[in-house]
Amino acid sequence: MTTTTATAPGKVILFGEHAVVYGRAAIAVPVAKVKATVTLTDAPAGTGCTIAAPDIRAHVSLSGQPKDPLALAVRLALEEVGLEAEPAWQFTVRSDIPIAGGMGSGAAVSAALVNAVFAHCDLHDRAQPDRETVNRIVYAIEKLHHTNPSGIDNTVVVYRQPVWFVRGQPPQRFEIARPFHLVIADTGIASSTAAVVSDVRRAWESARLVYEEIFDGIGEIASAARRAIVSGNVDALGSLMRENQRLLRQLDVSAPELERLIAIAEEAGAAGAKLSGAGRGGNLIAVVEYKKVEAVQEALLAAGAAGTVITQVGS
Ligand code: PMV
Repeated sequence: MTTTTATAPGKVILFGEHAVVYGRAAIAVPVAKVKATVTLTDAPAGTGCTIAAPDIRAHVSLSGQPKDPLALAVRLALEEVGLEAEPAWQFTVRSDIPIAGGMGSGAAVSAALVNAVFAHCDLHDRAQPDRETVNRIVYAIEKLHHTNPSGIDNTVVVYRQPVWFVRGQPPQRFEIARPFHLVIADTGIASSTAAVVSDVRRAWESARLVYEEIFDGIGEIASAARRAIVSGNVDALGSLMRENQRLLRQLDVSAPELERLIAIAEEAGAAGAKLSGAGRGGNLIAVVEYKKVEAVQEALLAAGAAGTVITQVGS
């Protein structure tokens, strides 16, 4: 009996959420400190393929619930490796990425499942499917969760690298000339990406010119942020985050708890902070000088943040 373990990281969007759905550029980075982990063990012959995700109390059988997102990830991966008969396999999914928190937990679970299938299959001399194949499968699952995903979540989680992302184009890597630090804080409020994205869609339909202008503004901030990161001008990132958050407020995707914690982070010394992901709840990110990271983290926890993660972008 063999066991295979595969992982995929969480992610945060630094700049450009929502506008990215409408073709503007966005920047996202993986967060390796949180991850989805899948273990895949051979089970006794004839027991079929089951997927247990104890964190969300899910127990799925491949043949019993073929349309479940966990089962679909496994089925699409099996099709890719050309395995037609259902294998006797037992998957266990664990994740410490906050669920419905804007940190890519769904995409990371799908990516870890697909990676586990590929790693577990004896592909002999056939090459392992490449990242683009994994990305295509994870994007197909994302479409089950949200009707109109831009593709940014699956891309950053699968490639595990900072990405400059424009919908419909291959993701671009970019240099991080000087590393910088983020404090990520969870409001503890679960937020449905699908619901927030469809609210923005409705608002855009009723006032296209206004919304297109906001999206243009967000796209310009993402471009300025890329220039700043590539040239090592990390001091510029704080004001760009504040400006991005101002426009996200105009899209009506912020929330009182996000605003409160963003203010706390900035008062405690963050250069700037903003929501990350769909908004209305979930996580916020603050760009913070290294020597102030601990003070900002403590202030956020004292103010009631449900959890924090400190991450360095670039090495
Ligand atoms: O909340 P998350 O992590 O799923 O991020 C959503 C990002 C959006 O731009 C709001 C939607 C999308 O598909 O890009």
